[in-house]
Amino acid sequence: MAANTFGERFRVTTWGESHGGGIGVVVDGCPARLELREADVQPDLDRRRPGQSRLTTQRDEPDRVEILSGVFEGLTLGSPIAMLVRNTDARPGAYDHLRDVYRPSHADYTYEAKYGIRNWQGGGRASARETVGRVAAGAIARKLLATAAGVEVVAWVSSVHDIDTELDPAAVTRLQVESGPARCPDPQAAARMEAAIEEARRAGDSLGGVVTCVARGVPVGLGEPVFDKLDADLARAMVSLPAAKGFEVGSGFGGTRLTGRQHNDPFAAGPDGRPVTVSNRSGGIQGGISNGADVLVRVAFKPTGTIASPQETVDRDGRPVTLEAKGRHDPCVLPRAVPMVEAMTLLVLADHWLRHASDDVLSDREGAEDARG
Ligand SMILES: Cc1cc2nc3c(=O)[nH]c(=O)nc-3n(C[C@H](O)[C@H](O)[C@H](O)COP(=O)(O)O)c2cc1C
Repeated sequence: MAANTFGERFRVTTWGESHGGGIGVVVDGCPARLELREADVQPDLDRRRPGQSRLTTQRDEPDRVEILSGVFEGLTLGSPIAMLVRNTDARPGAYDHLRDVYRPSHADYTYEAKYGIRNWQGGGRASARETVGRVAAGAIARKLLATAAGVEVVAWVSSVHDIDTELDPAAVTRLQVESGPARCPDPQAAARMEAAIEEARRAGDSLGGVVTCVARGVPVGLGEPVFDKLDADLARAMVSLPAAKGFEVGSGFGGTRLTGRQHNDPFAAGPDGRPVTVSNRSGGIQGGISNGADVLVRVAFKPTGTIASPQETVDRDGRPVTLEAKGRHDPCVLPRAVPMVEAMTLLVLADHWLRHASDDVLSDREGAEDARG
């Protein structure tokens, strides 16, 4: 079964190929009467689009979003919201040399082995262009969660290759992230990352790295036992992104270097008397359910498979071929992955927020009974 749909209550179906007529998404389950215009969606697409800086692929597309349905007079109707972005800088001819050849570490061989056919123009459905739909849907989730629950989601590039940052996730702002093309809020590390990516491009090579993402203001109680734990759904969401190879929540793999005494998050009474954790090595999630602290995740992205250097591979008849790199590609996917990680975080949170609202029907009823006396 093809799985192009994500989410239970905030359901997102993406469609389109890299070099077809366009690409887009249908969002079903967004509540009615949310104020929504194309201007709410466009800024996130602008952060995702190719050609935005010298660090990204030179494919140059404005990625203008059109909302085709589900919105009337600036308000959502509660019906499916369809959004379209037309492909305007597709150059299918640039991929002729890939018709019969499998790119190393790309999806060419596996798609063809599975389906007996593949769109060899720019990676087809496996292209990062598919994430246009996710980012557009994530922008609606962002608006919904900000309006209804006061949630804010910010992601940034926290490492490229061996260049790391040590930042307090609670303090990072969108303004800092967007202050440079690397999307790294530490200016010294950002300058080194930019130089390293430029150097890799010049050397016909590519680099990977890590995106860190924080969600602030997440209410207590999001996440379902046992297979739809909030962290399990976030892991699935993140590793479904192209080139994503690792996921951590809270202390992640680094936490294994601590003892239990060092690692535990002590509770204290919060300002309203509810428990709050003094530290946040749990990453805001305990037992798969949000605890009110910042939700904190990290996603590892591999070095881009396409490089501007010759590579040894085979064609579909098993004959050895030396692949000359042609076509446009990202020497490092990290800066453009930032809005994608934010989008997947927002989609998971919106879905669980709507699910939790329906879990909570009895507490509303108790409230109503209390009110009646
Ligand atoms: C923002 C972004 C941009 C990407 N750009 C390229 C690219 O220019 N060239 C390329 O070969 N892969 C690129 N990728 C990765 C491929 O889409 C991905 O490696 C491919 O679909 C195979 O999937 P896998 O790496 O998850 O196994 C990009 C990924 C992201 C997240």
